[in-house]
Amino acid sequence: MQFTKLSEQLGAEVTGIDLHKALSPEQARELRAALDTYQVLVFRDQNLDDRAQVEFSRAFGPLEIFPHAAINREDYPEVMEVADVADTSKYVSTALLWHSDGSFKSVPAYITMLRAEIAAPDGDTCFCDIAAGYDALPDVKKKQLDGLEVIHDLAHSRSLMPNIAPMSEEDKKRVPPVKHPLLRVHSGNGRKTLYLGNHAREIVGMDMAHGQALLRELTDWTTQERFVIRHQWRNGDLVMWDNRGTMHRAAPYDYTRHRRVLRRTEVSGTAA
Ligand code: OGA
Ligand code: MN
Repeated sequence: MQFTKLSEQLGAEVTGIDLHKALSPEQARELRAALDTYQVLVFRDQNLDDRAQVEFSRAFGPLEIFPHAAINREDYPEVMEVADVADTSKYVSTALLWHSDGSFKSVPAYITMLRAEIAAPDGDTCFCDIAAGYDALPDVKKKQLDGLEVIHDLAHSRSLMPNIAPMSEEDKKRVPPVKHPLLRVHSGNGRKTLYLGNHAREIVGMDMAHGQALLRELTDWTTQERFVIRHQWRNGDLVMWDNRGTMHRAAPYDYTRHRRVLRRTEVSGTAA
């Protein structure tokens, strides 16, 4: 396998491997280590089908089953279809906002994988390196953040998108808000990171307006261009990322002219 960096710190393209073939234990170890280092791995021209994606994904841990039947693939409930994200009349479009997958759960996602069935011009996915963002903060700021906790709530991110109906009380009960520390240590590479994203609703002990202002400030900081890479999809790509040290978002594109279909698997996290 060869790894070609996509930026100074974040992302690598991986060549010299066919993801249709079962991974050897050494290859799985090498990819885990590379993911700890680069956080985003891009594989071009793999053209996997659902089954091959599920098998490859399983090499990294147990997979989530997606409860929203309407967007599941029938044969593989581990595969979610992510289609036409920018079309806010059709899609729960909170993916357009910076986020880390599953931060609204007490045990958030470890890895997410997307493969492109139909890539759309400009329908890119952007990733930011939150550990690099944290590193670059002034020391006084880092001190102020130490010990803060954040409430993450799926109902919050949904409320930010005008096209989405508010969550029912029953759904809210199924996914109640959770609390995560604002500062975390990435268990794979030991780097200190911020934990933010569209589900982050408030900072414990701070009034709503101040907490949200701080969350916005930190999000703007970590998503500066110098910490961001942008993946331009081609059909057949597979991209995997580590949700512990990155945020991502779908870039807006012209959905009135182009379809965009990606298929997604999610490797569960483990309780800290
Ligand atoms: C996701 C996601 C972004 C995109 O599937 O978790 O955020 O570009 N997708 O579709
Ligand atoms: Mn996502």
